[in-house]
Amino acid sequence: MTEWPIFLQEERQKVEAEMEIFIEKNTNDDHLKKSMLYSLQAGGKRIRPLLLLTTIASFGKKASLGDYQVAASLEMIHTYSLIHDDLPAMDNDALRRGKPTNHIVFGAGMATLAGDGLLTGAFQLLSTAAINDSVKIRLIQLLTQAAGTQGMVAGQALDIASEEKKIALEDLIHIHERKTGALLCFATMAGGLLAQQPESVITTLRQMGVHLGLAFQIRDDLLDVLSTEEKMGKATKKDDQAGKNTYPGLLGVKKSEEALTNELQAAHLLLNQMGNEFDKTNMTHFLNLFSLERGLS
Ligand code: IPE
Ligand code: IPE
Ligand code: MG
Ligand code: MG
Ligand code: MG
Repeated sequence: MTEWPIFLQEERQKVEAEMEIFIEKNTNDDHLKKSMLYSLQAGGKRIRPLLLLTTIASFGKKASLGDYQVAASLEMIHTYSLIHDDLPAMDNDALRRGKPTNHIVFGAGMATLAGDGLLTGAFQLLSTAAINDSVKIRLIQLLTQAAGTQGMVAGQALDIASEEKKIALEDLIHIHERKTGALLCFATMAGGLLAQQPESVITTLRQMGVHLGLAFQIRDDLLDVLSTEEKMGKATKKDDQAGKNTYPGLLGVKKSEEALTNELQAAHLLLNQMGNEFDKTNMTHFLNLFSLERGLS
């Protein structure tokens, strides 16, 4: 598991606290609550909320309660997507975040509902977050686009539909940008909006998020081939046998590594275009964690 710098470890705990407070307070069924908390508390790198909070901090702003609530809602959506992704009818995985998957412990029905609860709860939390109302409406719109049928859900649907089929690189990019890229892109954009940045800056943050998002899924595809179940806390060497379309499957490992480097370089270039009001130190550190050499597993 990643060793985050100290300031991010503290941020991580605050996000985790907001998710737990929300679920404890707002879930009426105890078994459902257990199932939701099981996956949330199983760990995970918390990349998305930490990317959001790093973006805010880079503008010299100290995150407030509402910012942590937005970050928590994003991680709840991501965790739901993993529970559903692992279901027997989807990727059929038994290990996630180093633990048996939600459906192995609670059954497929309860796991489906835990995902539903996290998804709905994320928007309940976001809609009641302690942030400015106009920013909130924009964030709700952006998160529905990123998580839903224009974003992650669309990407997952395409991922399933193209199993066992040979697709072109541009189609694979289209899938990856949606199934994984969209939520990472939301993280950088939301960070900028919460730090009250102008549209020109939000556009650059969106472009950075697109490159980072694609990089992250290329990396995930590569780690399926190159890493181990022990290190990843989930099954590896599985995409190929499951007929998944992946970067290494289509391009081979070497070209995929190059594609990852290219996406990260594009993100770095955009980072360098940010004005002086953006302190690049922490984001540079963050981007470096996306490279293959770093111990982000
Ligand atoms: C796994 O995401 C699924 C992908 C989109 C690649 P993460 O690698 O961020 O998983 P956790 O949250 O750390 O478990
Ligand atoms: C999943 O991609 C992306 C999601 C939206 C959850 P993968 O299916 O490759 O993610 P892992 O490898 O199971 O974490
Ligand atoms: Mg999948
Ligand atoms: Mg999967
Ligand atoms: Mg994968």
